Amino acid sequence: MADRYLSFTGTAPGRFLTRRLGLPRPAPLRRWSAERPALDGELLHLTAGTSRLDLAPVLARTGLPTDEAAGQPAAVVLDATGVRTVEDLDEVHAALHPVVRSVAESGRIVVLGAPLDTADHHQAAAQQALEGFTRSLGKETGGGRTVNLVRLTDASAAESTLRFLLSPKSAYVSGQVIAVGDGQESPAPEDADRPLTGRTALVTGAARGIGEAVAAALARDGAEVVVLDVPQAEEDARRVAERIGGSVLLLDMTAADAGARIAEALPGGLDVLVHNAGITRDRRLVNMAKDRWSSVLDVNLGSVLRTTDALLEAGALRRDGRIVATASIAGIAGNAGQTNYGASKAGVTGFVRALAPRALAGHGVTVNAVAPGFIETKMTAAVPLFIREAGRRMNSLAQGGLPVDVAETAAWFAHPGSGAVNGQVVRVCGQSLLGA
Ligand SMILES: NC(=O)c1ccc[n+]([C@@H]2O[C@H](COP(=O)([O-])OP(=O)(O)OC[C@H]3O[C@@H](n4cnc5c(N)ncnc54)[C@H](O)[C@@H]3O)[C@@H](O)[C@H]2O)c1
Repeated sequence: MADRYLSFTGTAPGRFLTRRLGLPRPAPLRRWSAERPALDGELLHLTAGTSRLDLAPVLARTGLPTDEAAGQPAAVVLDATGVRTVEDLDEVHAALHPVVRSVAESGRIVVLGAPLDTADHHQAAAQQALEGFTRSLGKETGGGRTVNLVRLTDASAAESTLRFLLSPKSAYVSGQVIAVGDGQESPAPEDADRPLTGRTALVTGAARGIGEAVAAALARDGAEVVVLDVPQAEEDARRVAERIGGSVLLLDMTAADAGARIAEALPGGLDVLVHNAGITRDRRLVNMAKDRWSSVLDVNLGSVLRTTDALLEAGALRRDGRIVATASIAGIAGNAGQTNYGASKAGVTGFVRALAPRALAGHGVTVNAVAPGFIETKMTAAVPLFIREAGRRMNSLAQGGLPVDVAETAAWFAHPGSGAVNGQVVRVCGQSLLGA
C-alpha cells in the first residue's frame, strides 16, 4: 500500500500546504544502495567531558571523511563518555547547539555514553541524562535525521555498531539506546562487502514481508540463506530462494520437532538464526477465543523458545553464531486488540535479555531482537485506513518503515563484528511516539 501522503508532500503544492497547515512533513529517507552505500558528506567528531576512548581510528574506518570544521556534516559523533557531572552536561549543549542546525538531511547524530553500572550517583545522573537528551533531540531534528545513543567502553568493539548507525542502513532507527560490551572483538571479515561469506543463515517466515527482506540482506552480505516458511507458502518461498540464490525449508515452526528438523536439514550447522515468523489474531480480550490467544502465543513465542533450546542443545549453532528474534513495539507500548500479540512480543524481549549472557558464555552465540514499529507490509496493509495513517505518522520521521529497514538491523546484529552486541532490543520504528 503506497504512502500517497509521503509522495504528495514531496511536490511543490504539498510542501506549501503542509507548511501552511502545520501538517507532518516526512522527508524521503536515504537508504542503502550498492551505488550509494555511504552518506554523502563529512563526519564531525565532537567531545564533551574528558574522554578516554580511542575513537579516531574507528571513525576513520567508517569511510566518511572526518572534518573538524565541516560546514554541513552528514554525521556528527559526540563522545560524551567522559560526562560525569551535571556541570559536564553543559559541554553537551556547547558541542551540539552550534552544529545541530547544519546537519544534512537524512544525517546522523550519534551520542556516545558510558555504561550505567556506576556507584557514583552524580555520574549515573549525568549519563542517564544523555538518554532523555538523545530521545528529545530525535523528536525535534526532522528532515530524516536520526539521533541514537551508544553506551560503550571500547571503541573497537563498537565498530560494527557505529558503522551501521553512521550509514544509510539505519534510516529508520532513531531514539535508540544501544549498549555495546567489550572484549568480544571478532576478526575483521575477509571481504568487507560480503562479511557473512562462508556462513549459513536461516530466516523463518521468509516467503514474504520482513522475512523476505532479511533473507535478501543476509544473502547480499554473503550468507548461504535458508528460506523457511510453512508448506502453504511454498511458491513464494521458492521465488525468494531463487532470487537470492538460497534454498528452501518448508516447515511449520510450531511443530514439536521443528528444531530437530532444522538441525537435520543443516548437518553442517548454522551461524545465523533469525526468528521472524509471526502472526496476529486481533480481538479485544473480552471477545478473544482461546484459539486466537494460543495460536499467537505459540507461533510468536512458544516456537521461538522451543526451537532455540533444541538447536542450542544439539550444538547446531556454531560458535560466534547469532540469534536474532523479532519483537514489536506492540510488546513495549501495548496495543488495544492485541493482548495476545503484545504478550507474545514482550515475551520475546524477556527471552532475549535472559538468554543473551548464557548463550554467549556457553555457546559463543549472541542473542538480540529487532522491535519493528509500523512497517509497510501485507500485515499493516490490512489495518483499517485511519489506524494505518496514525501508525505511519506518529513517529519522529512521520512515515512507515520498509521491510529493508528491519532487515538492515538484523544484518548488523548478524555481522561478524557485532560479537559485543548482545541482549539488545533495538526498535526499528522511526522513533515511534508510542512506548518508551
Ligand atoms: N509489519 C509490521 O509492521 C510489524 C511490526 C512489528 C513486528 N512485526 C513482526 O515482524 C515479523 C514479520 O512480519 P511481516 O509483517 O513481514 O508479516 P507477514 O505476515 O507478511 O509474514 C510472516 C511470514 O511468516 C510465515 N509464518 C507464519 N506462521 C508461521 C509458522 N508457524 N511457521 C513458519 N512460518 C510462519 C508466514 O507464512 C509469512 O510468510 C513478525 O514476527 C511480525 O510480528 C511486523
